[in-house]
Amino acid sequence: MRNVTLLNEGWCFVKTAGSANEAVNAGGTEITLPHTWNNIDGQDGGNDYYRGTCWYTRTLKQSEIPNGENVYLEFNGAAMIAEVYINGKKLVSHEGGYSTFRVDITNELEDVNKIVVSTNNGDNDYVYPQKADFTFYGGLYREVNLITVPKTHFALNYMGSPGIKVTPIVSGEDADVKVEVWVTGNAETVDITIDTITKTVEVNDGYAVEYIMIKNVHLWNGIYDPYLYTATAKLPDDEISTRFGCRTFLMDPEKGFILNGKSYPLRGVSRHQDWRGVGNALTKDMHDEDIAIIKEMGANTIRLAHYQHAQYFYELCDKAGIIVWAEIPYITMHMKNGVANTLSQMEELVVQNYNHPSIVCWGLSNEITAVSGASDEILENHRKLNDLCHKLDKTRPTVLANVFMLEIDSPLLEIPDINSYNLYFGWYLGELEQNDGFFDQYHAKYPNRVIGFSEYGADANPRFQALIPERGDYSESYQAVYHEHMLKMIEARPYLWATHVWNMFDFAADGRDEGGEHGVNQKGLVTMDRKLKKDAFYLYKAYWSKEPFVHICGRRYVDRVEEMTEVKVYSNEASITLKVDGKVFETKNGQNIFKFQVPISKNHVISAESSCCEDTISIRKVSEQNKDYLFSKDGDIINWFDKEELNKDYFSVTDTLGELMQHPEAGMIVSGLMEKASASRGDVAESVKDNPNLQRMMSRMTLHSILKQAGESITTEQIKGLNKMLQSIKKS
Ligand code: GCU
Repeated sequence: MRNVTLLNEGWCFVKTAGSANEAVNAGGTEITLPHTWNNIDGQDGGNDYYRGTCWYTRTLKQSEIPNGENVYLEFNGAAMIAEVYINGKKLVSHEGGYSTFRVDITNELEDVNKIVVSTNNGDNDYVYPQKADFTFYGGLYREVNLITVPKTHFALNYMGSPGIKVTPIVSGEDADVKVEVWVTGNAETVDITIDTITKTVEVNDGYAVEYIMIKNVHLWNGIYDPYLYTATAKLPDDEISTRFGCRTFLMDPEKGFILNGKSYPLRGVSRHQDWRGVGNALTKDMHDEDIAIIKEMGANTIRLAHYQHAQYFYELCDKAGIIVWAEIPYITMHMKNGVANTLSQMEELVVQNYNHPSIVCWGLSNEITAVSGASDEILENHRKLNDLCHKLDKTRPTVLANVFMLEIDSPLLEIPDINSYNLYFGWYLGELEQNDGFFDQYHAKYPNRVIGFSEYGADANPRFQALIPERGDYSESYQAVYHEHMLKMIEARPYLWATHVWNMFDFAADGRDEGGEHGVNQKGLVTMDRKLKKDAFYLYKAYWSKEPFVHICGRRYVDRVEEMTEVKVYSNEASITLKVDGKVFETKNGQNIFKFQVPISKNHVISAESSCCEDTISIRKVSEQNKDYLFSKDGDIINWFDKEELNKDYFSVTDTLGELMQHPEAGMIVSGLMEKASASRGDVAESVKDNPNLQRMMSRMTLHSILKQAGESITTEQIKGLNKMLQSIKKS
């Protein structure tokens, strides 16, 4: 029978070696999988994490190999290009750091075997991702299995697929379930079972297909009832099974997402797969914790960006009833030599994850026009991906996550079955209301096109608090205000088939250096160590979760200069009573957001109570602003120029980029600084800074608002010095 043995123990990590043989003799460091060598340097800023080829070696004795006639090694995550050697002979090279692949080692085995694996996360121009706003961790960061099977077994040699494919077709009260299996070796028949129904099916040329009718089918109904069936296939000496769910779904241009015939707006988050100090080498407990936090918040969908996630996590989504957008890392910058890699990563994603009921679409790319617009090459690559998905899977639509600069008339939008946009108005640029206007304009012009909101978010460092939250201040306060607007905007637009907050968790982007942190994108609603839920987390919980709770915002805003302070409460309860120092202050009835104006004069204990829950914080009146709450120590970076007498006949940082660039001398001064400012914004900004669409948008922004986003790489003093220079240049 089939035997699967976890092979995570007993590996040696060798950072540098010129060859497999050299790696074997190099000794190295004993490690246990999952492992990445970038768990620290990939999260500390500087864009200098180690990208190159490292090696993993392991001895495998014949005695460790269970009785079986065919022996495979299964790698579930080897980033990014892996080469596998057995006893000095290279057996396979795999290009793509996020999918499963297997190696048949049957004919190479000796009494004592040397396994050597090289993994390379270095720069190249043909394996995605190469340019994006997240760390490309290297290593064997998911588990490795040893699989032994009899000569005749269910196939293990096709693109890492499970060898069984289940397509439930719901009609009326029943579901007709198509089960396909692939067999290696000689088999006349195979038994296929669902529940109590078993059928013996003929195998022809290694393939068998059967339809099994489930009467009065128990539907997989999202977070309300994620019912799963199991399909099992049996050969005389081999058996495999897969879970599946029966549901119908569609994306309607006006009504949004429909699940099992009922409106089911997809409202949720995106997730990257890394943790603080661990990188992407997650344990199952960490995956469990992630899904638990997402369930607590009440999300019913997750965009598993920007690559294929762990099988185990897709299974958790199946069980939790959380609907998934799955995608490949065809991202930011198109590579002429990368077409084949997009196709192989997409084929692996689809064939390896086809059976998951939680997955409802295949994401072809993310912001791929950010650098070069919708070139003919990009259009052609998308047509190939789109056709491939339709060939492999007739049940799910394809989708794109488009960058906000992409014109809504672009031909790229006509290729996938449905679309979504990543918008950052109210964070990177512009005002919050521009998000509303964008979708209203798009929907008015294309009322028959399905549109979604694949990314939106604002960075928040929980250390930073603001009495007057402002775009670009990196405060927890502004992130909450930002999401308050976005939630209302989304609630008013049911045609948005899915909306995904960017991001559920802070994640590593080693090229970033801003907002008081190095190497981290802080748009998460929860910190990268999963220890701190920011106020905005509780805003979504108030809107989406049925679990009663009360949360007082601003617990980290202890020192308050104002005499009358706003105490904001997020809750899904209908009535909140606020107490100050133990005395009832005020009771408010309402929904989700409750705001109280409270006079303060000393230390105060503030508590908020509902019928079943309560929360308490402590604050104190202070005379001086606590500078620790501001992401720029000298505190006045946000609007210091208000206090300065600016001569309006001369240029200053309050002029727009467009105005400044039209003047030769002012333009020269600004260009140099823009280079420096954009470089600190991570790979995405670096690659898009010359983008004509983005330039048009930025030309309407004031220089100050652009520099404010540049974080600590541009100090207030530098901006003041720049302003002095500009104030010496008379406007013509
Ligand atoms: C983009 C991109 C993300 C990135 C995000 C951001 O939309 O898709 O990968 O992290 O913007 O800038 O935070």
